[in-house]
Amino acid sequence: MADITVTEHLLLHQKRTPQATGQFTGLLYDLILSGKSIARRINRAGLLDILGGTGEVNVQGENVQKMDVIANRIMLYRMERCGALCAMSSEEEADLIRVAPEFPQGDYILIFDPLDGSSNIDVNVNVGTIFSILRRKGEHGSEVTLKEVLQPGCQQVAAGYILYGPSTMLVLSTGQGVHGFTLDPGVGEFLLSHPNMRIPDVGRYYSVNDSYWRYWDGAARESLEFFRSRENYSSRYVGALVADFHRTLLCGGIYMYPPEKRKPEGKLRMMCEAAPLAFLVEQAGGKASDGYGRILDRTPSHLHARTPLFIGSSQDVEAVEKIYAKY
Ligand code: AHG
Ligand code: MN
Ligand code: MN
Repeated sequence: MADITVTEHLLLHQKRTPQATGQFTGLLYDLILSGKSIARRINRAGLLDILGGTGEVNVQGENVQKMDVIANRIMLYRMERCGALCAMSSEEEADLIRVAPEFPQGDYILIFDPLDGSSNIDVNVNVGTIFSILRRKGEHGSEVTLKEVLQPGCQQVAAGYILYGPSTMLVLSTGQGVHGFTLDPGVGEFLLSHPNMRIPDVGRYYSVNDSYWRYWDGAARESLEFFRSRENYSSRYVGALVADFHRTLLCGGIYMYPPEKRKPEGKLRMMCEAAPLAFLVEQAGGKASDGYGRILDRTPSHLHARTPLFIGSSQDVEAVEKIYAKY
C-alpha cells in the first residue's frame, strides 16, 4: 500500500466535501505541526529540564506540570497565527483567547487540552493533546462572543487527539468516520495506519479509578459491579483519558468517570475532553453518555464546565444508562 500522508488524506477529503475550505485544511495542518513540536519535546523529556511541576495551580485547581506549560505555549503560538481561527480556549487558560487583531482572522474556534494525563509524564507513560474544532456563528471579523463558543458537542466540525505513546498517533474525525495516522519520525509525517476505525459493539475492558468508590452513588457502584461480574471482562486504567480512550476505541469496552459526592459534575472537562472524544466514539460506532443522556447533546454552561463520562462500546454504555435510569 502506498503511504498516504495526513495532508494528502485531508486534501482528498476536502475535494469530496464541498463545504470544506482551504482554511480548514490549513488549520489542521498547523495543528498537526504543533503536535509534532510537542512530540519532539516529549520524546526527549528526561534529557531536557522539562519534567516535574512548576509549583503553580491552574484554573482547574490542579498542579501545573512544566510540560503542560510548554504544550500550551506551542499550541497558542502557532494556532493564533494560522489564519483560520477567531478564538481559542485551553484547559490551562481561565478565559477565552481571542485571536489578536494583528493576525489574520478565520471563522473557526479551537478548544484544546494541551497535555492530557500530564501527571503521567514523569513516569514516561502515554500522554496526549485533545482538540475540538467549532465553526463560529457570528459575522466574519466581528468580536467572538462567549455564546458562540459554548456550543453543544454535536456541532463540532472536527475533533481528535495526538497520542504521545510508543508511537505518536493522530486520531481524527471531520465527521466522515475516524482515521488514525502514525508519525513516521524518519519521514516526519503522519501516515495513514488505521483507516475507518470502528469500535466493537461490546468490549473487553472496563476502565475506571475505583479508589473513588467511597464517593460514588449507588448507580456508579452498580455499574462497576456489572462489569466486574461479567465473563471475559478485564480491567485497565492508565489514568490518562486519552490513552484509556485509545485502548477503548481499539479493543472495545468502557471508560467511566462517574460523578462523586465531593465532585457532583465529575472531573473531566466537557469542552476539551468529553465532547471531542464523544464525537470520535460516535463516528466510530460507539456511544458517550453522562449516565442520563448523550454527551453531544449537552450545551456547556461555561468554558471549564465538567461532566460525568461513560464512553465506549455502544452496548456497554447502554448498560450503564439502564442502571442510571433506575436511580
Ligand atoms: P489533565 O492531565 O489534562 O489534567 O487530565 C487528567 C484527567 C484525565 O486524563 C484522566 O483520565 C483523569 O484525569 C485521571 O484522574 P484520576 O487521577 O482522578 O483517576
Ligand atoms: Mn485532560
Ligand atoms: Mn491537561
